[in-house]
Amino acid sequence: MLTVAAMLAVIVAAAPSAAPKTFSRDVWPILKTRCVNCHQAGEIAPMAFTSYKQTRPWAAAIREAVLSRKMPPWHAAPNAAHAFRNDRSLSNAEIQTIAAWAESGAPEGDPLPAYTPPPRQQGWVLGSPDKVVGIPGFPVPKTGPLPYSFLIVPLHFEHDTWVRAAEFRIEHRAVIHHINAFIRSPGSSFLAGFPIGPIFVPTVAERGKTREGERLFDRRQLLLGYEPGYFPMPWLEDGAKLIPAGSDLVFEMHYNPNGTEVTDHSELALYFAKAPPAERVVAIDTLRDLDLQIPPRDRDYHSKATMTLARPARLLSIQPHMHFRGKSMAIRAIYPDGTQSELLNVPKYDFLWQTTYVLKQPLELPAGTVLESVAGYDNSPDNPFNPDPNDTVKWGDQTFNEMHIAFLELVIEAKGDPDSLFQSQPKMIGTQTSGKH
Ligand code: HEC
Repeated sequence: MLTVAAMLAVIVAAAPSAAPKTFSRDVWPILKTRCVNCHQAGEIAPMAFTSYKQTRPWAAAIREAVLSRKMPPWHAAPNAAHAFRNDRSLSNAEIQTIAAWAESGAPEGDPLPAYTPPPRQQGWVLGSPDKVVGIPGFPVPKTGPLPYSFLIVPLHFEHDTWVRAAEFRIEHRAVIHHINAFIRSPGSSFLAGFPIGPIFVPTVAERGKTREGERLFDRRQLLLGYEPGYFPMPWLEDGAKLIPAGSDLVFEMHYNPNGTEVTDHSELALYFAKAPPAERVVAIDTLRDLDLQIPPRDRDYHSKATMTLARPARLLSIQPHMHFRGKSMAIRAIYPDGTQSELLNVPKYDFLWQTTYVLKQPLELPAGTVLESVAGYDNSPDNPFNPDPNDTVKWGDQTFNEMHIAFLELVIEAKGDPDSLFQSQPKMIGTQTSGKH
């Protein structure tokens, strides 16, 4: 009779693929392409995985993080109906390789002469920009919270300008909640009368001010947002955003002090289209519920938002946005014929990762499509991030208030009118019954 050890030896010999996984041969190639862009000195992850010695103590944590799909950070439920271009998640085979390595003692194998991560991005990811606009030093104090702050920068474009891509280069990632860059057309009511040059803090009412009958896209449109998890990408092969002649850029900046005083000089690069594009990319923030009201200690509050497309468009990306009580968001399309399609499901929303989910293939949405987002919140004391479970929580800027927005990027023909997307003028922020500010 064979001993157990002898039986195992036979099995191992018979199945070379069951050879123990090693760091140098099996694990490093995965870390190198899927992890070290964040897990190296100077990047956002707190520990580096750029040598065997650095990685070995983390083997058990790495196994746990990949099996639970906590890492790499990617919060869309697997097997989505529509694939995402920027999907960071690991394949099952990659997960199994890492887990098997950790379970067999995390051996190095034959050491490589060096574990060299891909060269770090120097400068701009998207290449040499056509124009760069900078934040001229935002002083972030040690403690917060800080209000939304604004900066108006004139672009001095004499002609309508198509921008095929834009990129944020962020100086102090650790203290930035978000930065949005808006395009403000000449004559817009958006922050009209505020000075050009200095950074200022308007009230919520001042920010929401519009002119009677003013068209949404004449007032402002979102060019690009930065949040944790951001990665620069052009929008489309032959699509661009339009900056009308004479427009300003308006930066909306929300800094989150973390105990260290810094001055932030983040920058935004613009890349011009060489020829007029076939399609126009537009961003909207109107799939939102401004009237959400979460009762104290409610652990399963749901808020629903809908909007109906008045014209056909293609969906390019979705970005769910909530604050600390946000726990899930699901977005679906209800087509005019009554059929439905789930567009994105984030079952475990994580406020620290505000990912934009970019569809691999922009999705055709016919006129009359209803877009619906359902957001779940946990206002119970069991939510470890809950700032105050006894609060009735309403819409507001600060993370102790809440939000429910599904930011969408839509594609229409280049000469199309983006305001024709809306059946009726959407409700504006600042006009709802507001929460604490
Ligand atoms: C987009 C950036 C990013 C990528 C890619 C990434 N990580 Fe992380 N990782 C982080 C950050 C930031 C943290 C610390 C905050 C946190 O735990 O969410 C972290 C934390 C971790 C932790 C500690 C988890 C814990 O429970 O404390 C492990 C282990 C880890 N990462 C493993 C990996 C592995 C393995 C990969 C690749 C397969 C990977 N990460 C890819 C950014 C990243």
